[in-house]
Amino acid sequence: MKGEIDHKIKHVAIIMDGNGRWAQGRCRPRVWGHVRGSSIVSEIVEEAEDLGLNALTLYAFSTENWSRPPREVMTLFTLLRKFLLKERARIIKNKIRFKVIGDITSLPKATIDLIEDLEETTRDHQGLKLSFAFGYGGRSEIINSVNKLLKSGKTEITEEDLQSNLFFPEAGDVDLLIRTGGDKRVSNFLLWQIAYAELSFTSTKWPDFTREEFRGILYQVAGRERRFGQIQSVDSLAESHKMARVNRDYIDKCPPQVQ
Ligand code: FPP
Repeated sequence: MKGEIDHKIKHVAIIMDGNGRWAQGRCRPRVWGHVRGSSIVSEIVEEAEDLGLNALTLYAFSTENWSRPPREVMTLFTLLRKFLLKERARIIKNKIRFKVIGDITSLPKATIDLIEDLEETTRDHQGLKLSFAFGYGGRSEIINSVNKLLKSGKTEITEEDLQSNLFFPEAGDVDLLIRTGGDKRVSNFLLWQIAYAELSFTSTKWPDFTREEFRGILYQVAGRERRFGQIQSVDSLAESHKMARVNRDYIDKCPPQVQ
């Protein structure tokens, strides 16, 4: 399946929304939607590997989600733990690099240990970079990066400085952000990394999302032209920056004649 079409999408981020409505529409408690939603996460990870992605980031628990009823919060903690226990062996076998981004200090100690152990075990893996955003907020990630730079003594920072102090800089910029569940918002997710991302919103609620729909969205978006501020299509932001540098050098050398 790998490399079926030559898409240039390396990093996909997904806001897995619609679990609660999915369950309520079936006269079940909201948490049931999360349970069903968590059961398809493994399939989507497998599809990301088949599609040859470099990184997949999944929004599992935002800082705002702390305001949900304690039972729902506890269910999400438990689902994360169950996922780790179930998928650990496969993650290691497939050379996936695993990471949790966000503030996990309030998770149960046993879950923190599982996360840290898997992060450490997979640190040098060269396969898919899989991260769960948990206790995550995009603004606080940016603030955290700036504060690290201030602490290191910097008084002026570059984009590269900020990027390299994010929670998981190796995942890089997001090429495609998908949100399920019908809403068209970015909800404080990866605010720095989505600066040039293609956005795709589907009304499918997360528990009904399939690998076929995932693949379909990716191929559809891969067909869109990405211009990164240019007038013609370019493959990457780096290429766009390179062309900008060439143009600026030219204009510096040959300034336009003002009439
Ligand atoms: C949004 O749905 C979804 C979440 C707040 C959590 C997403 C979590 C999972 C899919 C399961 C986590 C799994 C692992 C493996 C960590 P919502 O409850 O806001 O739905 P609604 O918009 O219909 O109310």
